[in-house]
Amino acid sequence: MKTPEAAVAFAKNNQQRFVDELKALLRIPSVSTDPAHAADTRRAAEFVAAELRRIGMENVRLIETTTAAHPDGHPLVYADHLHAPAIDGKPAPTVLLYAHYDVQPPDPLDEWLSPPFEPTERDGNICARGAVDDKGQLWMHVKALESLFFATSGQLPLNVRVILEGEEEVGGEGIAAFVREHPARLAADVALVSDSEMFAPDLPTLCVGLRGMIYTEIEARGARTDLHSGMYGGAAPNPFVALAQIIAQLKDADGRILIPGFYDKVAVPTPAELAAWKSLPFDEEHYRQTEVGSTVLTGESGYSVLERTWSRPTLEVHGMPGGFIGAGAKTVIPARAAAKVSMRLVPDQTPAEAFAQYKSFVESLRPKGIEIAVRLIHAGDPVVVSTDNPYVRAATTAMHDVFGRDTVFIRSGGSIPIVGDFIRNLGTPTILMGFGLPDDNLHAPNEKFHLANFHRGIESIIRFLTNLAPS
Ligand code: BES
Ligand code: MN
Ligand code: MN
Repeated sequence: MKTPEAAVAFAKNNQQRFVDELKALLRIPSVSTDPAHAADTRRAAEFVAAELRRIGMENVRLIETTTAAHPDGHPLVYADHLHAPAIDGKPAPTVLLYAHYDVQPPDPLDEWLSPPFEPTERDGNICARGAVDDKGQLWMHVKALESLFFATSGQLPLNVRVILEGEEEVGGEGIAAFVREHPARLAADVALVSDSEMFAPDLPTLCVGLRGMIYTEIEARGARTDLHSGMYGGAAPNPFVALAQIIAQLKDADGRILIPGFYDKVAVPTPAELAAWKSLPFDEEHYRQTEVGSTVLTGESGYSVLERTWSRPTLEVHGMPGGFIGAGAKTVIPARAAAKVSMRLVPDQTPAEAFAQYKSFVESLRPKGIEIAVRLIHAGDPVVVSTDNPYVRAATTAMHDVFGRDTVFIRSGGSIPIVGDFIRNLGTPTILMGFGLPDDNLHAPNEKFHLANFHRGIESIIRFLTNLAPS
């Protein structure tokens, strides 16, 4: 019988060092979308690889993802340790650990209480860009492994592969190609992904569904060049007005998407799942005030907030680059304008079909005098994972030991594109065990990670991995 206690004790005795190391990782601005941070992003990969090597992982390497079709890719970090002995003829299982080391851009900078890349402890939290999404959770994996290496004198009781990516926040093309081309190099019995949230403080949570997405750009072109809006206003087409008219026809006032056929494949959650969501501790008014901060909540009528964010598709506009956005006024009719538009998808929608429906609908809405181009920037499949397997029980037992409570099963509105590939291409059951909190400000100013959850996450992962080992 393997016991995790020595590893758990090691983690407890090293808490401060673990946090100090995480701070060093958080100081590296690995903003994957910004070419100016390409070298920083690689430095974060090298930092993590060096630590994997130090703790005893083998075959540690950076895997380049840049190709002609995918320029400016960021490296994957791979490591393994595949020496666990069979016990009584039972082969040790292999676990694949996944997290991402890239982060979102930190702007708007002036809303941060402390600088985004100077990690600062406040009220039991570590505050920095990437604290919870996902460097803090990545570091939980590394520190759980270190603790197990220490407690077993380097003889891990199960086989471990680690795959980390630096392009999650920009769609994850590089890792998707790697999984397609080299599935055997990630072969595993189960994958553990820590990049999600708990439903509430102190409530151990497994995420069992993620929305997929298509991220698109509509480019609109009117006149040959920018024009004086007094001289030509009344005769020249305006691409911003065209985009506004198109966008206004994509969704009705009730939040229902108007793209023909868009809802045809949308699956309804089972009655049992809907009943379980109803019993979660959720106060809509508290959510509105503390998380959203708007006067009212919007969205499709007839669906609860959890349904609207977990099991219904949505369409959002993120920005409209182009034209004049400087201080003061400039009287110009811009020659071109663009809109960044994404849709979150749910089972059983597919990115390919949703994009085709959207593209032809947008093209049908083109106002006269305007040329438009509709491009797909990235896409990912929606997923739901099974809750009835021994790996889920290994996770819920582990978290019960740490939190003293039963696990709740939730879905999440966010997307982690590679999870669909793990399940579909590798056929690997996947456990989404994350330790963020609903108010951790992912992608926003003052991102944080509750330090108690960082430590409880490490302990949960140690116990989860020990539970998987044959006994
Ligand atoms: N970790 C998030 C996704 C997430 C958030 C899952 C909360 C569960 C709970 C991830 O880093 C993320 O932000 N993904 C992007 C993906 C996109 C850029 C392809 C997202 O959801 O917008
Ligand atoms: Mn993430
Ligand atoms: Mn993210």
